[in-house]
Amino acid sequence: MKTLIVYFSAERGTTARAAKEAAEALGAELYAITPEKPYTAADLNWRNPLARCNREFMAKKDVPVSGRIENFADYESVLIGFPIWYGCAPLVVSSFCKGYDWSGKKVAAFATSGGSGIGKTAEKLRPFLPGADFKGAKLVYSGAEAAGLL
Ligand SMILES: Cc1cc2nc3c(=O)[nH]c(=O)nc-3n(C[C@H](O)[C@H](O)[C@H](O)COP(=O)(O)O)c2cc1C
Repeated sequence: MKTLIVYFSAERGTTARAAKEAAEALGAELYAITPEKPYTAADLNWRNPLARCNREFMAKKDVPVSGRIENFADYESVLIGFPIWYGCAPLVVSSFCKGYDWSGKKVAAFATSGGSGIGKTAEKLRPFLPGADFKGAKLVYSGAEAAGLL
């Protein structure tokens, strides 16, 4: 089964590390979700009400992604990794999901966080994965744990 791991990681590379470990464990290919405009440290300073992350969260608009996976149709299963932002998946992740055909794919999501739980992350992400056999989302502490979700 051909597996792809797509991940978004912004602050400390925590999610990227888990994604890379999971890719090694599964022999999967790895793809980084990259916003058209990369986040700077100031953009991610959620303590500042005017920081980009807070403005985007309030606006609830798509965060455009850069690049495209041309052979997405080749993958039978996809693992999606991201940090928890404001209790769920960052907007750039759902924006990414909108760009692809998920029908017939087995999909699971993993997240890292600063302490909050997974909350309603899966329920909120599900509408962006139409037609997928979506296994849900789980908070993970290692790549091995993420690899076990598919
Ligand atoms: C804009 C923003 C919002 C965040 N919101 C939450 C949150 O609601 N709950 C939480 O536990 N951590 C939150 N965090 C912390 C990240 O989930 C955590 O540091 C994550 O492991 C970072 O992964 P990364 O290094 O791959 O970006 C937030 C971080 C940022 C930048």
